[in-house]
Amino acid sequence: MTTKLRHVLETKTNILDVELIRSEFPILSRKVNGHPLVYLDNGASSQKPQQVISAISKYYTYENSNIHRGIHTLSQEATNAYEEARITVQKFIGAEHSHEVIFTEGTTESINLIASCYGKKHLTSGDEVIISTMEHHSNIVPWQMICEEKGAVLKVVPINDKGEFLMDEYENLLSDKTKLVAISHVSNTLGTINPVKEIVAKAHQKGALVLIDGAQAVPHTKVDVQELDCDFYAFSAHKMFGPTGVGILYGKEDLLNDLPPYQGGGDMIKTVTFEKTTYNELPHKFEAGTPNIVGGIAIAEAIKYINKIGIDKIEAYEHELLAYATEQIQQIDGVKIIGEAEKKASVLSFIVDGTHPSDIGMIIDKLGVAIRTGHHCTEPLMNRFNIPGTARASFAFYNTFEEVDIFINALKKAIKMLV
Ligand code: ALA
Repeated sequence: MTTKLRHVLETKTNILDVELIRSEFPILSRKVNGHPLVYLDNGASSQKPQQVISAISKYYTYENSNIHRGIHTLSQEATNAYEEARITVQKFIGAEHSHEVIFTEGTTESINLIASCYGKKHLTSGDEVIISTMEHHSNIVPWQMICEEKGAVLKVVPINDKGEFLMDEYENLLSDKTKLVAISHVSNTLGTINPVKEIVAKAHQKGALVLIDGAQAVPHTKVDVQELDCDFYAFSAHKMFGPTGVGILYGKEDLLNDLPPYQGGGDMIKTVTFEKTTYNELPHKFEAGTPNIVGGIAIAEAIKYINKIGIDKIEAYEHELLAYATEQIQQIDGVKIIGEAEKKASVLSFIVDGTHPSDIGMIIDKLGVAIRTGHHCTEPLMNRFNIPGTARASFAFYNTFEEVDIFINALKKAIKMLV
């Protein structure tokens, strides 16, 4: 059955030339602890194709200069490359304007920016912010901080045992007091794909804004912010085959215009006197100081890479990979999958009777298999399931069905040693 299923799946998914793709990721050919690397920790950070690595190297070798400041050629070239990158991101997420794309340090900073700027201006005592049980700490703590400062109340939408967002409970929590809803598009721990379009529509009916944490969605599925009609959308480059330390905040033009700046400094100003400063236009108002220029250029390169393969093909392939891995792991005694939503992205979290997730992670690392273990920055979610943590395999389009087999065999060996 296993071999047959794999054959069917491989035939079905041969539209992706995974071997060619793998050859474009230099790190995938290395060995770890004497074994070929099987990298299944893409939820934490993805690997980078040569195209992205080369763009970074080329920038520092031939193009390095500061942007928006120089009259000289290098500065103008760097400025053009950075602003072209912004347009690449705009098109990738379907934003109406390129100035609705703000470069940040990553998803965490994007969320903190909105919590801080929106919260300071618009939240008052008794207002409510809604999140869900499955949020990452970065979509919990910034809201706790601003709610505490403003005397606002944080409400949490519960989930069912499969790890699905409970729409009825959400509707019950929504009220005229709701100012903002902050929700993950895809759960990093469960893989659940949330019905964000519906969540947005229901919030808007109550006059509330919606921020979507898209860190785990953008590398795996097509995102169109205008179709979703979300007000803000946050994601990181490093989970989508780009570098660390750079990410995106999308916001609707009128909403971003309405907000105060996040940080003060160069580039975010129009004029400065000791008496009064006026602020720059979007997007610069939210980009104080010299940004991660090469990061911006490299995120665009990562998008070009994704576009070259095709996000729809990526999604279809990963769907089959997850289905195969799920079927395989379910056959191992004592394994329980955490996160069995109807709609899932390529995340497989699990626990094994009589073992600790970190012991499993450590043993299979010795066999070359990289997974993440622990609470995955979702402690409240772990409390919901009454577990200290999970072991999590998270897949990307460069992973193969053979790698799933290696992972499953390594897991079986680990269980044999531990139980
Ligand atoms: N949020 C990242 C993860 O899920 C770090 O692993």
